Amino acid sequence: MRENNLASSFSRLVSVAPMMDWTDRHCRFFHRLIAPDVLLYTEMVTTPAIMHGDREKLLGFDAAEKPLALQLGGNDADALARCAEIGEQWGYDEINLNCGCPSDRVQEGAFGACLMAEPQTVAASVAAMRRAARIPVTVKSRIGIDDQDSYEFLKHFIETVAAAGCDTFIIHARKAILKGLSPKENRTVPPLIYDHVYRIKQEFPQLQIVINGGIKTTAEVREHLRHTDGVMIGREAYQNPWWLNELQNEILQKPNVKTPQDIVHEMLPYIEQQLTRGTRLSAITRHILGLFQGIPGARKWRRILTEDAVKPGADADVIFHALHAVASG
Ligand SMILES: Cc1cc2nc3c(=O)[nH]c(=O)nc-3n(C[C@H](O)[C@H](O)[C@H](O)COP(=O)(O)O)c2cc1C
Repeated sequence: MRENNLASSFSRLVSVAPMMDWTDRHCRFFHRLIAPDVLLYTEMVTTPAIMHGDREKLLGFDAAEKPLALQLGGNDADALARCAEIGEQWGYDEINLNCGCPSDRVQEGAFGACLMAEPQTVAASVAAMRRAARIPVTVKSRIGIDDQDSYEFLKHFIETVAAAGCDTFIIHARKAILKGLSPKENRTVPPLIYDHVYRIKQEFPQLQIVINGGIKTTAEVREHLRHTDGVMIGREAYQNPWWLNELQNEILQKPNVKTPQDIVHEMLPYIEQQLTRGTRLSAITRHILGLFQGIPGARKWRRILTEDAVKPGADADVIFHALHAVASG
């Protein structure tokens, strides 16, 4: 283990979950404007993709997105170590190993949630990643898989991986069912058992334990923070992004006094820059559809962006038009 592993210099109190197809760089840039101090995660990137793919496309990000964690998918310690090193070189602040994804594709590759059945493999991978990179290496898991769903199973997993030097775990508080449920069903059907996550924090107070799964209100965030070191928010952050501003102001208590309209105006230079690079407008606007949720005009905003941003040659005028519609309610 390297002696000089860096302690994290950012807060884990509130983070936005890694979400494939959702938390791409455009989404993260947008979330960052809303909440300067939440920790952001990439989508999962697999080790073969990084080793053989287009790294700029897979790993490129805007410095404004930091603090930013790179989530890796894989099960080969050497490849994970190499990718952790590459992630550090690209400027990421944390490397996270996915031990929670139940999709068939991921199971075929024998990583993601399957890895919960192999804590020694995860421990060896974590140790190798920590030797290769100085930034923190963290693990995101479920509370169990299939019928391996006892508290003792989770405890053994955490204990084994922590012994390899992982001191931060993000735990999605429901088990994954590897056969018969789609990834989407695996985010709703197995029940949430927050208590197992709380108990891990009680038994391993030296570890940073971040809880995830089904968190939707600031009151719930406050309650979870009585028992854990941080909350990770997935779907609600994506669908109702303005909530992140409330979390920034009330939980992180570093107020970012803005309106949703301010955020749209702040997005414009970024959008212009991306358009000149050949990015389609809709690749960015699809992430901002939920910004005005609960505000009069929200439906018009959503409709104009959905319909007009996909038209050939669509540019920032679509945004002005949609903003105007929000203003007129
Ligand atoms: C569209 C989508 C894609 C996801 N992709 C990933 C992923 O790449 N890696 C991962 O660890 N979890 C992934 N997840 C799971 C989330 O990170 C999170 O654990 C889950 O949604 C539960 O949190 P929530 O109830 O706050 O949404 C994904 C979830 C969604 C909705």
